Amino acid sequence: MKNNRKFILVVGARPNFMKIAPLLLEMQKYQSIEGSSGDNISYLLVHTGQHYDLQMSDVFFQDLNIPEPDVNLEVGSGSHAMQTAEILVRFEKACLRDKPDWIIVVGDVNSTMACTLVAVKLGIKVAHIEAGLRSFDRTMPEEINRLVTDSLADLLFTPSEDADENLLREGIPESKIKRVGNIMIDSLLTNVEKARSLEPYKSYGVEENKYILATLHRPANVDNQEHLSQIMNNLMDLSKKLPIIFPLHPRTKNNLLQQGLLSEVNLPPNLIFCNPVGYLESIGLVDKARFVLTDSGGLQEETTFLGVPCLTLRPNTERPITITLGTNKLTSVEKLRDDIDQMLEGNLSAGKIPELWDGLTSQRILKILISQSH
Ligand code: UD1
Repeated sequence: MKNNRKFILVVGARPNFMKIAPLLLEMQKYQSIEGSSGDNISYLLVHTGQHYDLQMSDVFFQDLNIPEPDVNLEVGSGSHAMQTAEILVRFEKACLRDKPDWIIVVGDVNSTMACTLVAVKLGIKVAHIEAGLRSFDRTMPEEINRLVTDSLADLLFTPSEDADENLLREGIPESKIKRVGNIMIDSLLTNVEKARSLEPYKSYGVEENKYILATLHRPANVDNQEHLSQIMNNLMDLSKKLPIIFPLHPRTKNNLLQQGLLSEVNLPPNLIFCNPVGYLESIGLVDKARFVLTDSGGLQEETTFLGVPCLTLRPNTERPITITLGTNKLTSVEKLRDDIDQMLEGNLSAGKIPELWDGLTSQRILKILISQSH
């Protein structure tokens, strides 16, 4: 007998889009070939609207060929409680109306956690992609989102062995844990040649391998005034050695503006601020950077895959494999100057690509989803 299964795929914020795009594509392919023997699947794409700007959301839909969302909950910005509460109320209505069998959530943003909570309370199964990552730092909102989501989800799709170990240690039954690899790498492999061919660094007047890409947006780095001005001092010094391209997240831009750190008079010409960049531009800029300075989760993985050195301005990471195997190194405001010098001298390991970061993760996920009973 044929199974009919309905999925809701959830996206909310910038780092979600490249994790959903490959699964959507697999689902489209499956639908187009499913014959009389195959199970039927249908799906809806729900955007919570946590991110809503052209540069934080729409441009990723274009770059990654993601179709328009079927539903946009338009929750917008707010405090954590407000944003989460809005998602709870609006996503519950969507689930009651559309009655999915499963919801699929990705990553660790507020939308991931809130939609999970709604679904489990309605008896809808939840699959979490990128499960099991832990920074063990509960001051980070993402860590809370990961802990809640993983403790409630029915299927936990993990990218690496450390994630499996974290989940087992927390008492998650082994049968729920499926190591499938890193779905972001599916998007990266699909798009890297196109991104390279755009040569986005040229429009900033810099040369291949002769610039640094910087992105910072974590509250711990950019909401603290003193911390942010120390970081800026380091970047100004560094820009005397190599140009820095620094796409500004809205949170970072607001904080820099408030501190008067964005006025033209203060800025050295080689510290190049720009608007947030889309997916293709970001990959293209990473690929040809001498090194990347970041506090993003995704960039730690993309640099490891592309073999580009990465300095992560955080005391910890939920992606330790990028350090043990890859090209990533943690740094702090205190150590930044020394670590930057080391990077400029080229004192870094070549790095390896972790197992199952092979572009086939979305295929593995869909196969498992289809093999599940309702
Ligand atoms: C969120 C995620 C974080 C992720 C980051 C990527 C949570 C808890 N945090 O943090 O894990 O790394 O996205 O960007 O889910 N804003 C705009 N336009 C937008 C969206 C936001 O201007 O389209 C501004 C608003 O002023 C908002 C601020 O940016 O208050 C922060 O946005 P928010 O989604 O609350 O958190 P992020 O810092 O982006």
